[in-house]
Amino acid sequence: MSKSNKTVPKLKFNEGWSYAPAPESASHVKLQDRYDLFIGGKFVKPTSGKYFDTINPANEEKIAQVAEANSADVDKAVKAARTAYDKTWKKIPAKERGKYIYRIARMIQERARELAVIESMDGGKPIKESRDVDIPLVANHFFYYAGWADKLQYAFPNKIPRPLGVAGQIIPWNFPLLMAAWKIAPALACGNTVVLKPAETTPLTALKLAEIIQESGLPDGVVNIITGFGETGAALVNHPGIDKIAFTGSTDVGKIIQKAVAGTNKKVTLELGGKAANIIFDGAPIDQAVEGIINGIYFNQGHVCCAGSRLFVQESVYEEVLQKLKDRIETLIVGDPLDKNTDVGAINSRAQLDTINKYLQLGQDEGSEMFQGSCGLPGKGFFCKPTIFTNVAQSSRIAQEEIFGPVLTIQTFRTDDEVIEKANNTPYGLSAGVWTDKGSKIFNLTTKMRAGVVWANTYNKFDPTAPFGGYKESGYGREGGLHGLGAYLKL
Ligand code: NAI
Ligand code: MG
Repeated sequence: MSKSNKTVPKLKFNEGWSYAPAPESASHVKLQDRYDLFIGGKFVKPTSGKYFDTINPANEEKIAQVAEANSADVDKAVKAARTAYDKTWKKIPAKERGKYIYRIARMIQERARELAVIESMDGGKPIKESRDVDIPLVANHFFYYAGWADKLQYAFPNKIPRPLGVAGQIIPWNFPLLMAAWKIAPALACGNTVVLKPAETTPLTALKLAEIIQESGLPDGVVNIITGFGETGAALVNHPGIDKIAFTGSTDVGKIIQKAVAGTNKKVTLELGGKAANIIFDGAPIDQAVEGIINGIYFNQGHVCCAGSRLFVQESVYEEVLQKLKDRIETLIVGDPLDKNTDVGAINSRAQLDTINKYLQLGQDEGSEMFQGSCGLPGKGFFCKPTIFTNVAQSSRIAQEEIFGPVLTIQTFRTDDEVIEKANNTPYGLSAGVWTDKGSKIFNLTTKMRAGVVWANTYNKFDPTAPFGGYKESGYGREGGLHGLGAYLKL
């Protein structure tokens, strides 16, 4: 492998040529102007009569209005879920439960294209991501848990697995439909009923899922989907009729939830933030590693709890890695999420863009050096250039705090022990990545890193069979795989 690329002529992106736009059509997408709450198998008007707009963050245009559920609506939804649990769902044979979940999975596959386009419109993620990653994983998740529904006793031998009852589920905006699938599929497979609240900026695919669920013939009230802001989520958390809370989102809200349920019988799983270390050793296949780093932090605008936001490079390959990263950043296409060529889409909301910009300023104020690609940004919408910070101190806030944007900090190291200590020096512990040609190094690091998931020579790979979850302030409990069933059962 060449240690330097000085002799290789540099191709500058957009120098005399560029890709023609390849926008995905949105003409097949069916959206209403206004969405009500999905409670007891029907779409019902919110008690408050209030609606709010969900916008397309790539052009700031309103897509639809969505109902704002207040505590009376939350109460209705929880009661509908309880009735469905007592009267139908817990009495239905497990095999039949599995069939319903399987049918939902099939219907998601059939409507994959529409769901992918809506996901990109409502949340800003590139269509490449929603089409090739999010929606296929959503269907896979339902398929996978459909299979478990009538095999729970094999998953937990010598135990009697019983459902918990009604689950309240609150999800974020970075993987809207995928997080809905992570929450709903295992809950149903285990015989629970649910009330799900999607994030306020990305409610549309969850509401499309409500339509699919209605069409699937799933008994009324087994899944209820209510929209609203943090207050709606808090009303759900505090409702006495809830047996379990599953939350994915910020560490701050996770802490509020933990306090709110202390002393109650509610079970909780929390999947919170992250500040993942991606580590490149000198023997690593550098080109693949660089591609993995780019994928890990830029492809979803860094809106990923397990984003590889801290890069550690072994000193001897630092210059090479840095140059290759900069060259690759120059080729990234930032812009219209619906364009099939787009690598980096829109930041999810103005608030999130403000947060990211605050950190970009902070990083420079702290004395770190900032590099951004030379690409232009669209005139409208919320966009951020892929960014690298070098000359970063271990104590600097950009290396310690979750930015949740396309921002990478780079630090160097000499020895295994040094990098393990640096990588673990964060309040979080969700994920990490290791790039090396030595299996022994992989084993050494995976056992010593305090992270729920450690990828080796790859990054951001997901599969419904693999459990996911964190250490420390990244939360607790596992989702996915067999572990994900345990979170919805009394054993
Ligand atoms: P958030 O934690 O406020 O929102 C996540 C979900 O929780 C939304 O559905 C929201 O309506 C709901 N929620 C808000 N307050 C609540 C409360 N008191 N009780 C119950 N539910 C409540 O996250 P936000 O403000 O959108 O993003 C802030 C930061 O959080 C981001 O910059 C990022 O660092 C982190 N984040 C992490 C995510 C992850 O996947 N771990 C996902 C989204 C954000
Ligand atoms: Mg939106």
